[in-house]
Amino acid sequence: MSEETWAAVDAYLVELVAPEDPALRSAREESDAAGLPSIQVSTLQGKLLMLLARIRGARQILEIGTLGGYSTIWLARALPVDGKLISLEVDPRHAEVARENLARAGVSASVEVRVGRAIDSLRQLAEEGAGPFDFIFIDADKPSNPEYLEWAIRFSRPGTLIVVDNVVRTGAILDPSSQDPAIVGTRRLFDLLSAEPRLETTVIQTVGAKGYDGFALAVVV
Ligand SMILES: C[S@@+](CC[C@H](N)C(=O)[O-])C[C@H]1O[C@@H](n2cnc3c(N)ncnc32)[C@H](O)[C@@H]1O
Repeated sequence: MSEETWAAVDAYLVELVAPEDPALRSAREESDAAGLPSIQVSTLQGKLLMLLARIRGARQILEIGTLGGYSTIWLARALPVDGKLISLEVDPRHAEVARENLARAGVSASVEVRVGRAIDSLRQLAEEGAGPFDFIFIDADKPSNPEYLEWAIRFSRPGTLIVVDNVVRTGAILDPSSQDPAIVGTRRLFDLLSAEPRLETTVIQTVGAKGYDGFALAVVV
């Protein structure tokens, strides 16, 4: 089975069950035009995030890694009118493009994009007494995933769903001798997830327009 087949099946399914509306399409296109890397979740994955947040009944969402706000728009659409999403982004240019995309999608009122290293923003949020969040999406620098998981647990309550993207990395996570910081961080993440009694965790391997990767899903018990 080839990457072309995965992408073709993705395109077929997107048309059927998750067609992008103009706001989502322009978020992707404007991000590309602004030179942002095309590393946002796929359309089907974005809709999965929205459905998971909706199933969870999420009113407070935390996202680590905004990019151009593509996943942010999907997640914001799961919120009730009085819901709130905070998204953390280190790159001011990414945050600027995201804010424009969020405005076009009509979700700016419920979304705050904070610029800075996520670790610093998380500390700041703790000082402000933010949380608990009902849904936390971790999708920033992969070497920091262990720290982000610890912060996510700190900002959680029983029932909080934590989702971490890019945890399979074409199977490269199988290599215990890897020196790649993203692999080291992801393997350390799995060590924490497997040892953490406060979490019920599973991992879904994914193929599609974004190649071969996976999501970790953990519910706080
Ligand atoms: C994979 S992209 C996020 C994609 C986005 N969640 C989506 O699916 O549309 C990762 C983002 O995390 C940001 N990032 C990288 N390191 C970061 C850090 N230390 N703190 C905050 N954001 C960071 C990058 O600038 C990039 O915009």
